[in-house]
Amino acid sequence: MKLMTRMARSFVAGETAEEALRQVEKLRQKNILVTLDILGEAVQDRAQSDKAVQDYLDLLDTLAKAKSEAHISLKLTQMGLDIDDEYCFQNMVKIISRAEKAKRFVRIDMEGSALTQRTLDIFYRLKKKFDNMGIVVQAYLHRTEKDVADINKLKAKVRLCKGAYKEPKEVAIKKMKDIRANFTKLAEMLFTQGVYPAIATHDSKLIKWTKEYVAANAIGTDKFEFQFLYGLRNKTQRKLAKEGYQVRAYVPFGTHWLPYFMRRLRERKENVFVVVVNFFK
Ligand code: FDA
Repeated sequence: MKLMTRMARSFVAGETAEEALRQVEKLRQKNILVTLDILGEAVQDRAQSDKAVQDYLDLLDTLAKAKSEAHISLKLTQMGLDIDDEYCFQNMVKIISRAEKAKRFVRIDMEGSALTQRTLDIFYRLKKKFDNMGIVVQAYLHRTEKDVADINKLKAKVRLCKGAYKEPKEVAIKKMKDIRANFTKLAEMLFTQGVYPAIATHDSKLIKWTKEYVAANAIGTDKFEFQFLYGLRNKTQRKLAKEGYQVRAYVPFGTHWLPYFMRRLRERKENVFVVVVNFFK
């Protein structure tokens, strides 16, 4: 296996669905739920997007046969957002319809701020047709408080994360302390006015805050879930699952792993450490 591919295995569950499903099985044995992501983004031609749609349809069929409860996650630029909004919307209709038949949930990941509004516009159109879907919001964006208020009115399911893209200060909060403060403010909005929020962070301070908040407000463990990226904070994932929280791992796989892998390395020195330790294991 090539050096980079071996290193990427710390955060990527394999290049094929079969490899990813073997990792999913291991997680399920530890009581960890999953959402599967076929890696791909910034697709510029229809043939590639058509292929991505077909890959997701095939994955949904495989999950239905395996009676797996796995969710799927995807990015709209993989589904043609950079090509044409209507084409992207129709691709999403195909995928979510198939997921609906298979009783599966589809999460639309959030990408860079230049795409936030168009991603939300497509999400709002889809939400009128489907219930088995949700969106992601990013706590670092100044606009997110208003977006969460709007999304809560639709009773749509939200994954809350900090945000992973390099953004200018005009659109995004820069200081970690302030991002955390916005994260907890948005989490409160989701807990009090939203539906089944997913708290997606590896940050011990925010995990602790969430545990204390739900305990203080008598919010049951069936009313939300923690989410982690595959391969990160594995012990914490297992510990939370043992304590009775619902924990879901975001499990990416496929051949287009480079942008995802680089985002993880850029984000944290701890992540570089994870790769190095795994490499020498
Ligand atoms: P962050 O990297 O800010 O670290 C905060 C603290 O947590 C660190 O100081 C350290 O103490 C601890 N920590 C973090 N990583 C650690 C590690 N590996 N080991 C030990 N300690 C560690 N982004 C986006 O823009 N769009 C999206 O759709 C998604 N989707 C998504 C799904 C899921 C399930 C997750 C978990 C995350 C995303 N993200 C995302 C990524 C997200 O926006 C963010 O970039 C990363 O989660 C990093 O931020 P954190 O809050 O996890 O910790």
